[in-house]
Amino acid sequence: MFESSDFRNKRISLKHGVGQMPILGFGTLISDAAATISATKDALEAGFRHFDCAERYRNESEVGEALQEGMATDRIAREDVFVTTKLWNTNHRPERVEPAFDASLGRLKLNYLDLYLIHTPFAFQPGDDQDPRDQNGNVLYDRSVTLLDTWRGMESLVDHGKCHDIGLSDVGLNELMPIYESARIKPAAVQVESHPYLPETELLEFCKEKGIVFLAFAPLGHGVRPGPLDDPIISAIATRIGKTPAQVLLAWAAQRGTALLTTPRTAERARENFNIAILPEDAFSEINRIQTRQRLNEVVKTGVPGFIPRPPST
Ligand SMILES: NC(=O)c1ccc[n+]([C@@H]2O[C@H](COP(=O)([O-])OP(=O)(O)OC[C@H]3O[C@@H](n4cnc5c(N)ncnc54)[C@H](OP(=O)(O)O)[C@@H]3O)[C@@H](O)[C@H]2O)c1
Repeated sequence: MFESSDFRNKRISLKHGVGQMPILGFGTLISDAAATISATKDALEAGFRHFDCAERYRNESEVGEALQEGMATDRIAREDVFVTTKLWNTNHRPERVEPAFDASLGRLKLNYLDLYLIHTPFAFQPGDDQDPRDQNGNVLYDRSVTLLDTWRGMESLVDHGKCHDIGLSDVGLNELMPIYESARIKPAAVQVESHPYLPETELLEFCKEKGIVFLAFAPLGHGVRPGPLDDPIISAIATRIGKTPAQVLLAWAAQRGTALLTTPRTAERARENFNIAILPEDAFSEINRIQTRQRLNEVVKTGVPGFIPRPPST
């Protein structure tokens, strides 16, 4: 658990990185281009210094533009910002990893990444179509490549000095443990859905034991209503301590030793979601005792993202 009562400037060291990851991260899963730019700038302005991106979100160019402009305006150095992006499922073949990485880096207008993740453990048929399907709408998987093959491609990126750390996303212990054991360069972070309805405690304990950063996405339950934001225990604590339900949920995530990603879309919410401080111990324990269990994103089962709408088929 972190000792400081204020999570705003808290950073975690990663296995190999020269920089540190701010525990409060801004997620860029925003479908509209103009909203991506304004929300990214608002997040930077509010104090966020950790940005989570993905090739699959199709907005790395807009995030790159917003970061460049925002960092120039506020005189923020590149070393003070932590940027992650992710390798999409159609690029799992080892020879596709470096070109995919270079393309993301170009769109983001950066010359290195702090962290690069395999977005999901599922390999899709390689090609330009991010969502390859057969005539019946079934996903076309690529059985010729294993997750370890892809990991070897990721390790080469670190060898070539292109990114500081590498990791996995949307994995459970079943996928993480074999990679951890076989890896020459160990995973530095795993990014998974986590909130009080999906605490993923076993995975978190493994990560703590191995020095892997556990990065929680959907800490507000992706804003799904009803969901963790409406939970009566969360609402009661928020009222009691004079915080909003969102601030309570984000503080809980930070207090249990995870880094987190949240997606405020307005300047006001960016300030709200960044202004996160430690909860009283009794409130923290009460949230730990919530019994409701709910996974919101089925991506871990198929590799098909739950929060990204599929484009209408042509
Ligand atoms: N690896 C993966 O497969 C994966 C999957 C999903 C997400 N992610 C990453 O994780 C990031 C965060 O995930 P997420 O978007 O699910 O996070 P989240 O912060 O749990 O949910 C975002 C939603 O919560 C609402 N919200 C934000 N701040 C709020 C506040 N203060 N009060 C009330 N509602 C609030 C927003 O609603 P409005 O729309 O009304 O603003 C938004 O739709 C993503 O952007 C992405 O970078 C990764």
